[in-house]
Amino acid sequence: MSEITINLKSAIDNSYKVIIENGANQQIPAFLQKSKLGQKYAIITDSKVEKLYGASFARFLKKNGIECELFSFPDGETSKNLKTIENLAAQMIEKSFDRKDAILSLGGGVVGDMSGFLSSIFMRGISYIQIPTTLLAMVDASLGGKTGVDMSEGKNLLGTFHQPKAVFIDPTYLKTLSPKQIRNGLAEVIKCSIIKDEKLFKFIEDNLSKILSLEPKTLNKIIEQTVKIKAKIVEKDEKENEERMLLNYGHTFGHAIEKASEFKLLHGYAISIGMVLANKMAVEKKLLDKKSAERIKKLITKAELPIATMKIPTLKDLASDKKKSAKVINFILPTKIGKAVIYPEKCL
Ligand code: GLY
Repeated sequence: MSEITINLKSAIDNSYKVIIENGANQQIPAFLQKSKLGQKYAIITDSKVEKLYGASFARFLKKNGIECELFSFPDGETSKNLKTIENLAAQMIEKSFDRKDAILSLGGGVVGDMSGFLSSIFMRGISYIQIPTTLLAMVDASLGGKTGVDMSEGKNLLGTFHQPKAVFIDPTYLKTLSPKQIRNGLAEVIKCSIIKDEKLFKFIEDNLSKILSLEPKTLNKIIEQTVKIKAKIVEKDEKENEERMLLNYGHTFGHAIEKASEFKLLHGYAISIGMVLANKMAVEKKLLDKKSAERIKKLITKAELPIATMKIPTLKDLASDKKKSAKVINFILPTKIGKAVIYPEKCL
């Protein structure tokens, strides 16, 4: 078992543990009994995860003396909006949930972002824990307390920073994930290795087939390493003033590519192209050597993630992303494998 603490002690103590273990969810009843986060618990999930794990998870909690109710919404990014939040809140109120209760978020990134957002505003804020079921959510969305919903104007435009009280990562959930979704999460692992950890990058190069075939030890190792990287970054900069911006490597181009594809391209696939484009820029600006850029491209290709798009976003496209007109775009550019910098580029 691996236990990593995210130490957040700026104003109030928001620290919490991230448990990574096959079968980690078995520890949740004891954790809830000890921490007394709520008198009863709303398990929030989506229609897909509800069928696979939601109903059995609720039965398991009840059998272990935890009072809970399961609430679900149709799976997919199109549900990530205020209407769904309002529906979930109404259902919780209908079942007499109040300030003394808490939320258990069971699912991928959309579920995690929505549950976090709902818990930050329900009755002016209640506690929640994250139980991610996708690789992408395990290594990124479940950690660091970013919550939110989309608007028709863009992704994650409404949201809060609201840290969970714990994160339980149980890699056995990944058994039911499609290879495409595994690659979707792997892209974020590769991203973290490039910005912070050359050893992790090398480990992925050497163990790619084991990772893609979900070999437990290898998979758990890359999850653990990525969680450690993200934990350190969030500890330094909870509200994304500087250091946390490094996690946006590949995302400046990636978000625009994702949007241009009308979200048909998965996030990890879009940021893979985004990383290659950022590297090209880093080489042009003489920040990164060509050999490292080629090595990254080779790994992304070997992982069967894309490296190119028909329509490369221009600086103008990037500046007008999210309907705001930016004068400066903060690109995240690697200077070598394992290190990246913030590179402000004027666009007017
Ligand atoms: N997904 C990037 C972050 O949590 O800051």
